[in-house]
Amino acid sequence: MEDNIKKNVLEAKDLKKSFFLNGKEIKVFDQINFAFESGKVIVIKGRSGVGKSTLLSLLGGLDRPSAGSISFEGIGFENLSNEELALLRRKKIGIIFQNFNLLSSWTAAENVEAVLMHSGIDESIRRQKVESLLTELGLGDRLDNLPSELSVGQQQRVAIARTLANDPTLILADEPTGDVDPETANEIIEKLLVPVKTRGATLVVTTHGNFPESFADQIFQMKDGQINLNHA
Ligand SMILES: Nc1ncnc2c1ncn2[C@@H]1O[C@H](COP(=O)(O)OP(=O)(O)O)[C@@H](O)[C@H]1O
Ligand SMILES: [Mg+2]
Repeated sequence: MEDNIKKNVLEAKDLKKSFFLNGKEIKVFDQINFAFESGKVIVIKGRSGVGKSTLLSLLGGLDRPSAGSISFEGIGFENLSNEELALLRRKKIGIIFQNFNLLSSWTAAENVEAVLMHSGIDESIRRQKVESLLTELGLGDRLDNLPSELSVGQQQRVAIARTLANDPTLILADEPTGDVDPETANEIIEKLLVPVKTRGATLVVTTHGNFPESFADQIFQMKDGQINLNHA
């Protein structure tokens, strides 16, 4: 049991998600099953609208499935309240949203520091950590810029810094290379791989197709409400 938990960081069992609009059911997926091993890079491929963002929001505990269960490090999300889920996320899960979700009136540094506000880390150490993270990501001279003053690639790197600030064991990245040129995409991927290589974090990335598959340990394909392992 213990070994299994260590090996599989994230498991989904018979996962279903539907949305209801005007009483009509929109079924996104049903009977989704997988087990992601820790320390791996998992790529989930699928066309726009197939349900990638919906799946990631369930895996990050931001939304609840219509049926089925998710467990993270052996803990079933269904046993956690929304507050407990939020705490777990803050401690262990980093999410990069498709649209970055940076706060537009906050500077790059403030956006990253926000993650560490409730961490109990001293203000001066917090600032240092934020500065060194952003510097590592090539934004050392842009700490005080607002998102609107940064390019798309730079905003994406702020989002990555924010995601990595609390040293998550699980990183969920929703199309992180979606809107950038191949060179920027490679830089982004390199940064996302650091926690995988240095401390065995698990990286789950969605893509509509432009994420280089050579980085993946496992590739899953989402199609018609199903998910299938492509190859190892
Ligand atoms: N909050 C919502 N309410 C209703 N339908 C939604 C909602 N979120 C997503 N959907 C629908 O779920 C499907 C999957 O969307 P999404 O997960 O964003 O796909 P992808 O990320 O693969 O492009 C789409 O048909 C979308 O319209
Ligand atoms: Mg999406």
